[in-house]
Amino acid sequence: MLKGKKILLCVTGSIAAYKSVILVRLLAKAGAEVKVIMTESAKDFVTPLTFSTLSKNKVLTDLFDEGSWANHVMLGRWADVMLIAPASCNTIAKMANGICDNLLLAVYLSSKCAVVIAPAMDEDMWLHPATKQNIEVLKKQGNEFLAVNNGELASGLTGEGRMMEPEEIMDFLGDYFSKDTSLKGINALVTAGPTYEAIDPVRFIGNHSSGKMGAAIAEELFKRGANVQLVIGPSDIQISSGINTKKVVSADEMYEACMQQFDSYDIIIMAAAVADFTPKKKAVEKIKKSGEGITLELVRTKDILLKSGQSKAKNQTVVGFALETNNEKANAIEKLKAKNADMIILNSLKDERAGFGYDTNKITIFDKNNKEYQFPAKTKKQVATDIVNTIIQYRNE
Ligand code: CTP
Repeated sequence: MLKGKKILLCVTGSIAAYKSVILVRLLAKAGAEVKVIMTESAKDFVTPLTFSTLSKNKVLTDLFDEGSWANHVMLGRWADVMLIAPASCNTIAKMANGICDNLLLAVYLSSKCAVVIAPAMDEDMWLHPATKQNIEVLKKQGNEFLAVNNGELASGLTGEGRMMEPEEIMDFLGDYFSKDTSLKGINALVTAGPTYEAIDPVRFIGNHSSGKMGAAIAEELFKRGANVQLVIGPSDIQISSGINTKKVVSADEMYEACMQQFDSYDIIIMAAAVADFTPKKKAVEKIKKSGEGITLELVRTKDILLKSGQSKAKNQTVVGFALETNNEKANAIEKLKAKNADMIILNSLKDERAGFGYDTNKITIFDKNNKEYQFPAKTKKQVATDIVNTIIQYRNE
């Protein structure tokens, strides 16, 4: 897929620059032609020699090179993709403001190719409104942002802001060049993330779902040309701008958002960790502590998957998830039947690297025709590809 593709890799000052070394190796192995631009501060982390050796091309760093002008216009035209990885907070801010004080920025401003940005920074910088605003500006201008991962950061803290792994970036580029539009004309609904059930104006019942699995499925469907409606509970995850994203908070809001145009969807995938119970009454004022304890009365939420299974027409495919800790297979098949779904995707919490908070997942899919598909542990993006492939296969049977 990447053979012969021209990748202009731009490296900025971030500890994640070491991952870009691996990325160049992977790109070269896949047959891509790679040229590397480094900013001054990137050189504090990795030497140009490392990149020139791996890319077999001279590394470009200056607007003026050996007394002559580096032709930034031609570089931007040479590339099929300009990939900025890692993209520091500073470079993102400069790009959003049209600043042009180094070669990378000059090439960016004159590029005609797709620009893909893989941010890397500490969580506080990532979450800062100024960074968010800069990212929105750049997205609106047609630049593609890769998601950041959660994990250990340069500061020693743990959180959002790690640059996407080189293997995941390779997956993205592979997809970008494959341009599979087999789901063009298909309408899909995906739910993702947790729901928060309010107890009073400041407290809620929630769960640890990150929304990553559902978001990855929505991205996969979108990438293949589907019109995607994502209904997502509270989550900071970045979603491609082409996906219709409806943010909700409670199970009830998620239910309403899903049912609004239910008949128009061909594929319905419920990946959200919807709360099963919600407080019967939400206190209008903050509950004060008095006495030894309180009793909360909880009532069942509406089961969106169940309602979808009951309401579906013949051409609609309804897919749910099951997170089980014991009797996994039997419980998953039971759920498939009870909810009249076409497929159930089983996450077993017994599996290593599967479930909440992980970037990886291990699934087994059961369908209504008694078929079982087992997959090894993979990244959530790769799992999303397996899920969408299996759904397409099921719909074509
Ligand atoms: N689901 C939903 N609406 C709810 C609850 C769950 O759409 N109110 C969906 C989830 O998105 C998921 C599937 O149903 O696709 C999970 O089924 P559920 O019965 O909630 O599983 P568990 O929470 O594991 O329930 P139990 O412990 O009763 O098996």
